[in-house]
Amino acid sequence: MKNSVSKLALFALTLWVLTVGVLGTFFIKGWTKPSTDKRKAIVLSPSERDIVLGEMRALLKGVNGVFRGLAQNDQSFILKAIGPVGTKMAADINPMLMGKLPMEFKQLGMGLHKDFDVLAIDIKHGISNDIVIKRMGEMTNKCIACHEVYRLSP
Ligand code: HEC
Repeated sequence: MKNSVSKLALFALTLWVLTVGVLGTFFIKGWTKPSTDKRKAIVLSPSERDIVLGEMRALLKGVNGVFRGLAQNDQSFILKAIGPVGTKMAADINPMLMGKLPMEFKQLGMGLHKDFDVLAIDIKHGISNDIVIKRMGEMTNKCIACHEVYRLSP
């Protein structure tokens, strides 16, 4: 009797370690597979894919707004344009989708949202248009870095 109880406990423990291990691995690596153009394809459901691509189009809109604001020498226009693409954008991404995205993807994405927050704060405190241009050069490097490595599975 005692023996079978300890066997059961060992089985439960093994199962627990396996589950935590598998979930942990997925959290770090995300759900990816190799793709035809050598990038890593993140496997998402159609609706999750729509969410990510929708955010991407919003990011492009934000970038566009910055340059249009610069052209008009209107920093309040820039603030309005980048308001939606800060960290609050990522706040309502559901945990399931979060889990499917690789850690590196999440770090790059969150880093970029944070950069937009910091840019907004700095503009409010007063920085020149030249600094805004320089920052955008650095920030759009993150777009490139991620696009070079990842795609979404069709
Ligand atoms: C953390 C990764 C990551 C970052 C950072 C990132 N993107 Fe993307 N983006 C992707 C992926 C993945 C796709 C899908 C590409 C594919 O499947 O070929 C994509 C697609 C897009 C698309 C296509 C949207 C559509 O509807 O098809 C646009 C536009 C875009 N990104 C703009 C941007 C801009 C602008 C930035 C930077 C300000 C940016 N992205 C930063 C990962 C990223």
